[in-house]
Amino acid sequence: MEKLVINGGNKLNGSVEINGAKNAAVAILPAAVAASKGKCLIDNIPDIEDVHCLERILLSLGCKLNKIDNNTLEIDSTEVHTYDACTEDVRRMRASYYFIGALLTRFKEARVELPGGCPIGVRPIDQHIKGFEALGADVTIEHGAVKVKAEKLVGTNIFFDVVSVGATINVMIAAILAEGITTLENVAKEPHVVDVANFLNSMGADIKGAGTDVIRIKGVEELKGCNYSVIPDQIEAGTFMIAAAATKGDVTIKNVIPKHLESISAKLTEMGAEVEEGDDSVRVKYSGKFKGINVKTMPYPGFPTDIQQPMSSLLSVVPGRSIITESIWESRHKHIDELKKMGADIKVEGRVAIIDGVNKLTGATVKATDLRAGAAMVIAGLVAQGETHITDIEHIDRGYPHIENKFRDLGANIIRVEVDE
Ligand code: EPU
Repeated sequence: MEKLVINGGNKLNGSVEINGAKNAAVAILPAAVAASKGKCLIDNIPDIEDVHCLERILLSLGCKLNKIDNNTLEIDSTEVHTYDACTEDVRRMRASYYFIGALLTRFKEARVELPGGCPIGVRPIDQHIKGFEALGADVTIEHGAVKVKAEKLVGTNIFFDVVSVGATINVMIAAILAEGITTLENVAKEPHVVDVANFLNSMGADIKGAGTDVIRIKGVEELKGCNYSVIPDQIEAGTFMIAAAATKGDVTIKNVIPKHLESISAKLTEMGAEVEEGDDSVRVKYSGKFKGINVKTMPYPGFPTDIQQPMSSLLSVVPGRSIITESIWESRHKHIDELKKMGADIKVEGRVAIIDGVNKLTGATVKATDLRAGAAMVIAGLVAQGETHITDIEHIDRGYPHIENKFRDLGANIIRVEVDE
């Protein structure tokens, strides 16, 4: 076991390179299984535990992997020999459910253990199932696994009851080899939905409209390998933007798509930070005066739920009152108890966190209760006086590549240390 130890108080300065998007990569790797010919050469893959977990699952299905470097992977899925993904790795992570869509579209059959992921609320997959059934699959849940089977998949119109990133991507993958045309309505528009659609199109799929409310998929006969580069991570970028503001620093965040960061830039600007957009970078600078703000999480292009927890660390040291309303997940305020151990003044009422900014946070031993909660603790530790010890950092490693090295390069005093079990 490991923990992060931070000696807070250093302003972050300099520049940081953002890696490929976790939530795009964790869908693209499973989707590669749909290719029956050729190899997929994918780069800008983040070097994170969720990706390592997917690599093990791909191997268990019979894919051949050639790891070119830490961020580049060649996947040959021509000889996939099982439709059964029921391993400890599958149970451990959320995105393993994309194997259902990928195996279903190619083999018309799959058995995939129900997914795990961060404990941030009830995480149903009813909309995924609704989509698979509409395409013609029989879906059953037995012994903790989802079983899907179809004589054939036929395109149809599907209107999702809720806007879901996972259901949009999974059903889009399932429909690429279906006969005829599938129309998905009320879909998620997140940048990673568009990225997965672009990847599938590079493999030969015919998908239009990703990034709008309606996606239209014309079924094709087969998919083949391709070369693809994953988009930069909107959430990693947002985390560094917030850390720059929280430490009253001056940081240029490089290799980003500024358009994807607009909702975060807008809130930081409203709070009083200076945000400068470049072509593929954003610079966040302390302006001398911050004030409390209200933030409500919404599907894209709204303020991302995945940035809400880091934002609460920043707002806990911003003068005045801030209110954060979490509208996507019902239990995404668990990190607040940890922030309180560091002196934050926050009340949680249901989905709302009322934050009264304090003059300082003080170092404490705190837990990363989930992935983004972990990022929130790192930001709190960077700001706090004295030493902060963050435990349970395996959550952080699932989604942030080499987080301590990146912060150290910006001037933070942060180290990773082994702890006795
Ligand atoms: N929902 C349903 N039924 C479904 C699916 C979702 O009711 O079948 C509800 C959920 O309960 C939730 C809402 O719809 O209230 C949105 O859930 P969504 O399906 O969009 O979430 P997800 O696909 O499970 C992905 C990201 C999350 C991110 C959400 C929202 C991945 C692997 N995970 O989850 O990322 O919070 O979209 O943007 O892409 C993270 O990276 O830390 C993370 C948790």
